[in-house]
Amino acid sequence: MVFPNKVKIAYGKMRGWAVFGKIQPTLGLLPRIRGKVYLNRSGELQVGKRLNIIGKPWGTQLTVVKGARLTIGDDVLINAGVGIAANIEVVIGNNVMIGPRTSIFDSAYHRIDSLDDGSEMAQRITIQDNAWIGTGALILPGVTIGKNAVVAAGSTVTKDVPDNTLVAGAPAKVIRELTIHDGWIRR
Ligand SMILES: CC(C)(COP(=O)(O)OP(=O)(O)OC[C@H]1O[C@@H](n2cnc3c(N)ncnc32)[C@H](O)[C@@H]1OP(=O)(O)O)[C@@H](O)C(=O)NCCC(=O)NCCS
Repeated sequence: MVFPNKVKIAYGKMRGWAVFGKIQPTLGLLPRIRGKVYLNRSGELQVGKRLNIIGKPWGTQLTVVKGARLTIGDDVLINAGVGIAANIEVVIGNNVMIGPRTSIFDSAYHRIDSLDDGSEMAQRITIQDNAWIGTGALILPGVTIGKNAVVAAGSTVTKDVPDNTLVAGAPAKVIRELTIHDGWIRR
């Protein structure tokens, strides 16, 4: 198989570390990587089929620390400038789209005050199938974003987002329920 250099290098960097679906990848199942994608992986990274990552004009960074896990489903789009860090676990479902410059960190990294024992610093983040996260959103530790949900641009998600809803604002609140027909996939 022949790839343009950039893809070959990026894919080569990821190949030893990621599991690209259960089937041996063929051309259509390979991740599509454009621009700069930084992968800091000491933990477990699982990537589904046809992952599409954009790393320009802003670089995109995926971090999985030792003992943590990042799972990315099939047909996921990760746009430019996105940062995803798994200190415990981040799970991204199938057909999820993540807008540019969004941050998804499952840890606060620092204690808030001397009463804070740090035990809740890192909490699992789950983004369910067919969710769309707009530009510049912040997804905080412990949050589950429901199936088919939309997170509006610039929102800060501090609590779980119900399935089939649009949330917006900081902190993000439900704006309205969405009509999603069975099997409909957002593009
Ligand atoms: C998700 C989105 C498309 C929703 O747009 P919409 O359905 O037209 O929403 P509306 O204009 O009907 O707004 C409904 C309410 O939510 C508010 N709202 C909409 N988007 C908001 C946002 N990003 N942050 C805060 N409030 C927002 C509106 O002010 C309005 O409030 P009101 O009822 O008090 O007037 C839009 O918010 C958005 O995020 N667009 C950018 C998507 C993006 O980032 N694309 C880049 C590629 S991934």
